[in-house]
Amino acid sequence: MPGYILAIDQGTTSSRTILFDAQGNAVATAQREFAQHFPQPGWVEHDANEIWATQQATMYEALARARVRPAEIAAIGITNQRETTLLWDRKTGEPVGRAIVWQDRRTAPMCERLKAQGREAEVSRRTGLLLDPYFSGTKLAWLLDEVPGARERATAGELAFGTIDSWLAWKLTDGAVHVTDVSNASRTLLANLETGDWDDAMLEMLDVPRACLPAIRDSSVVLAEVRIGDAQVPLAGMAGDQQAALFGQGCFRPGMAKNTYGTGCFMLMNTGSEPLHSRHRLLTTVAWRGRAASGDDRLRYALEGSVFVAGAAVQWLGDGLGLIQRSADVEALAASVPHTDGVYFVPAFAGLGAPHWDAHARGTMVGLTRGSTRAHIARAVLESIAYQSADVLDAMQKDSGQPLLELRVDGGATANDLLMQFQADLLRVPVVRPKMTETTALGAASLAGLAVGFWSSAEEVAANWKADRVFEPAMDPGRAQELQHHWRRAVERSRNWADE
Ligand code: G3P
Repeated sequence: MPGYILAIDQGTTSSRTILFDAQGNAVATAQREFAQHFPQPGWVEHDANEIWATQQATMYEALARARVRPAEIAAIGITNQRETTLLWDRKTGEPVGRAIVWQDRRTAPMCERLKAQGREAEVSRRTGLLLDPYFSGTKLAWLLDEVPGARERATAGELAFGTIDSWLAWKLTDGAVHVTDVSNASRTLLANLETGDWDDAMLEMLDVPRACLPAIRDSSVVLAEVRIGDAQVPLAGMAGDQQAALFGQGCFRPGMAKNTYGTGCFMLMNTGSEPLHSRHRLLTTVAWRGRAASGDDRLRYALEGSVFVAGAAVQWLGDGLGLIQRSADVEALAASVPHTDGVYFVPAFAGLGAPHWDAHARGTMVGLTRGSTRAHIARAVLESIAYQSADVLDAMQKDSGQPLLELRVDGGATANDLLMQFQADLLRVPVVRPKMTETTALGAASLAGLAVGFWSSAEEVAANWKADRVFEPAMDPGRAQELQHHWRRAVERSRNWADE
């Protein structure tokens, strides 16, 4: 058996490839950023050809760095930014315009219209999601409405729809497969939560022709053969990045949860083989499916709280306000003051996600006085990441009815000890940072490796997971409550601001 798994991690701001060995160690990493396009306020687009070019380049860079030959790769796993929506021409393989990114808010009016028609309860029952521009369905409907001739061409089978996983699988196989996996499909607003298949009523509601949709496959199964150099390597794993991180964190049992601190923050709790419908405005989503990964063919589900802006707020401190040089500088600046001195910041740049779901909320800073400094602002920005996650966890505990024993964390911002300690203080549960924080890529590698027998069981994969540091709650609970009370007042002030 060849000795490595190649994980492709296509994120919102960069394309990455990580090569893993059998112990789950990252032996080589390559990363390339690509352009973000903001053609109008609230719009965010990516060039799918650039995504592919950067992704492909990192694959070869990672192999070269590790001096690994293509024949030494046992399988490829894909994980990806979810919901981002793309149409391409099946004959030429050329994208039809730019991809509409998950952060894009252009379909807010469409969502409002459907809500006003009283459709949200049905949407939620069928898909586990809500009527928010975040998901692919209304973005695809927008493309079919706005691009001249698109709906006719899609109906005639000339155009293919895909999220980024589908696009990468298509490009990797030179157009041989048009597939997605159940976890990515469950973010489109077009798939049925119970069956894991496309839902006719949703296709009708959004006027989407079936002919443009990919086939929905398991997350851990051999999907196709990919030619790399002189070798044929199986593409054997595919999952949305947050579900992949849940897997990579070893959260295989119901009740286990992880939070990923990236551009946004995404907290997912495994709820087992029954979908748990949220009563507190969280999403119900498919976690994965695949006999090799979970021992049977049933769907596995998760509750999810999606926070749109987390690390992106720290980036904004640098590139928007010029208060820091690099994101890593935020910790020292924030730690130079003992508290924010009453300053609160709500990073609702793209509206608010869970549990508020307000597409019209906008960024808000309150509590400023003549004594406020850039250090207070930096600290307020950092703390806003933890407050948002605490709101989500609160809703999750109410939904699941069980207290969380620990929260496993990953993503770039988990290197920030100040943030992790504040997070534990607010949540009042231990926050556990693993040794390997590339859990998204590791999850994709694990799904692929299990499908080809590189690893024999989920337990074997879980044995590779090791804790690095546990942050125990230390703040007085009364103080934590008081802070959260003020935070919620700040959130109220950010709501219902933009009126596009
Ligand atoms: O739902 C969006 C999410 O998948 C994006 O993740 O890591 O690219 O910010 P990330």
